[in-house]
Amino acid sequence: MAVLFQKIPTLLHGGDYNPDQWLDRPDILEEDIRMMKKAGVNTATVGVFSWSALEPEEGVFHFDWLHKIMDKLYENGIYTVLATPTGARPAWMDEKYPSVLRVEHDGRRNHHSGRHNHCMSSSEYRAQVEKIDTKLAKEFGNHPGLILWHISNELSGECYCDNCKKRFQEYLREKYHNDIEELNKQWWTSFWSRHFNSFDQIEPPYDNGEHSILGLNLDWKRFNSWNMKDYMVFERKILKKYTPDIPVTSNFMKLFEQLDYADLAKELDIVSWDGYPRWNNDYETVADTAAELSFDHAVMRGLKKDKPFMLMESTPSLVNWNTYNKIKCPGILRASSIQTIGCGSDTIQYFQWRKGRGAAEQFHGAVVDHLGRDDTRVFKEVSEVGELLKKLSPVTGSKVCSKAAILFDWSNRWAIKDMQGMAQDTKNYEKEVLKFYKVHLQSGINADIVFPLENLSAYSLVVLPMCYTMSEEVGAWIKEYVKNGGTVVATYLTAYVNENTLAYLGGFPGAGLGEVFGMYAEELDTLYPNDSNSVLMKKGFTAPVKDYCELIKLTGAEVLGTYQSDFYAGMPAATVHSYGKGKAYYLGTRMKESDLIRFFTPIWKDSCIEKVDMTEGVEYLKRTAEDGSTFDFYVNYTANPVMVTLVKDGVDLLTGKSVSGEVVVEPFNGVVVK
Ligand code: GAL
Repeated sequence: MAVLFQKIPTLLHGGDYNPDQWLDRPDILEEDIRMMKKAGVNTATVGVFSWSALEPEEGVFHFDWLHKIMDKLYENGIYTVLATPTGARPAWMDEKYPSVLRVEHDGRRNHHSGRHNHCMSSSEYRAQVEKIDTKLAKEFGNHPGLILWHISNELSGECYCDNCKKRFQEYLREKYHNDIEELNKQWWTSFWSRHFNSFDQIEPPYDNGEHSILGLNLDWKRFNSWNMKDYMVFERKILKKYTPDIPVTSNFMKLFEQLDYADLAKELDIVSWDGYPRWNNDYETVADTAAELSFDHAVMRGLKKDKPFMLMESTPSLVNWNTYNKIKCPGILRASSIQTIGCGSDTIQYFQWRKGRGAAEQFHGAVVDHLGRDDTRVFKEVSEVGELLKKLSPVTGSKVCSKAAILFDWSNRWAIKDMQGMAQDTKNYEKEVLKFYKVHLQSGINADIVFPLENLSAYSLVVLPMCYTMSEEVGAWIKEYVKNGGTVVATYLTAYVNENTLAYLGGFPGAGLGEVFGMYAEELDTLYPNDSNSVLMKKGFTAPVKDYCELIKLTGAEVLGTYQSDFYAGMPAATVHSYGKGKAYYLGTRMKESDLIRFFTPIWKDSCIEKVDMTEGVEYLKRTAEDGSTFDFYVNYTANPVMVTLVKDGVDLLTGKSVSGEVVVEPFNGVVVK
């Protein structure tokens, strides 16, 4: 079984714990332990942002408090996720080594402030990090309570200092084989006299600098992500040198734009992330918010498909950084915790255990309020989650096994955003990927998120939404998949440009995919918000479409649907083409979810993917253990009891009762059938 931690082979419950904010209150630290046990907490993430408590002056280390805390936690059955404190720096460092401070897009160096404000390339910063991480690894590496290293916190940001500029130039030199003309060709610098004579002339895209070379913009994004990874690996190596057996993670932030997590995750042992959905907002249903959370979980699960992931942070009640900071209504924590486990997480962890008294996050939600009591609504709901996680412990280490997958690519995301054309307001790459996920979720199908070039052998269907930028290599990967019997569904905007944003010649999709799809897109029409068109599908339904319509010409594909209005009425809008042993569908326009479900239904059938009819507001998720036993999760995200027809009979882990046929799922609650 792929359990994450041999020391504690069960579901984890806990979260960020900041005892360093309470060192003058031993009574409170005592009380924390009592309350943690009461809430069913078995893990605490300690040390995030503790640098000034650990090293109050350069070279002066205070580890006693941390020893005491970790010992105490361990004696009480609570394991420690130990963070390197490198997410925020003490003032002494910024005073003495200004190069550690980040430089903004306009070239100005920041002052000492906040957190996540370092230059990842600064050798002075890295020297300080090496020192503290080495000390921590040596000091606590053998602690019996230590289960996981947590590198920094939510790595993020970009630095535009001269040092980073030089590293960017080096990065490009390597990428373009030290051949500036190769770069000029890929970046199409004959445009507007942008030709470079040497790598030294290239600058980052400063606010008041170069932005017209799309290849440069994209390479800068890639460089920044690579540089962050390089930094993360730097920390990882230090920890691994002294504690090779302790796994390493770094907490991600769902589809965070700046970092290509698919690339970073390769350097981590476990994927973890921080989830803060806007529950109970005024613009969507709770079930819609939950569907997005489900998607975010799928993205994180997709980063390491061979093991569960961790929900490292979530708020037990509310956050303090939204425009409106609404509290989570009763039951949401329970429903979302069951859902989170159903999506493949083996942990429910919070930010934060106890509310601090001051500074920026004093009113952020926590398990323990300023009130300090263990009979608050929030504390009781957290304790209830503690109980239900114990009941769900047989799920530990099992996996979500999907047959359908949806491709997501960070480079594509960056390139689409920067592409000059279409409509800036309706490109919506991320939303469209989410839409395809929801189409599957609403049909009771667990879809995985896949990333370019990964092994697709587990999938009978791969959806390729808006794959605008695509290398020849990725094109060949898709071609191979279809040739060997896979089914793909691609959309408008497929393979317009290569990985450096150079347009393909001879018809889109490029990257060698024309023969796979048996068609080409001659023009792309961008619709105004009030424009309308529709597609008459051969399957007998008419689907209104919006935003984009590609005008398709056939080179062998069969037409599945045609446009109904405008001068392109009667032209193909959706096609299918057999290639090798597989099938390649092409959807040249944007449909709404319900029509996509109709579009996909025969494709799922053809791909042996079972559709499960779910009542609206109920999410169906499935995990499978190594011995083949399955866990069917039904989560009711509505305020009413809902009747569901079970996919399989068995025992409901949450009640311990046998269930079969139809069962009632209570409001904001779940049924988990083993
Ligand atoms: C996270 C961060 C935590 C805390 C939390 C508040 O993004 O990692 O340190 O700031 O947000 O919601």
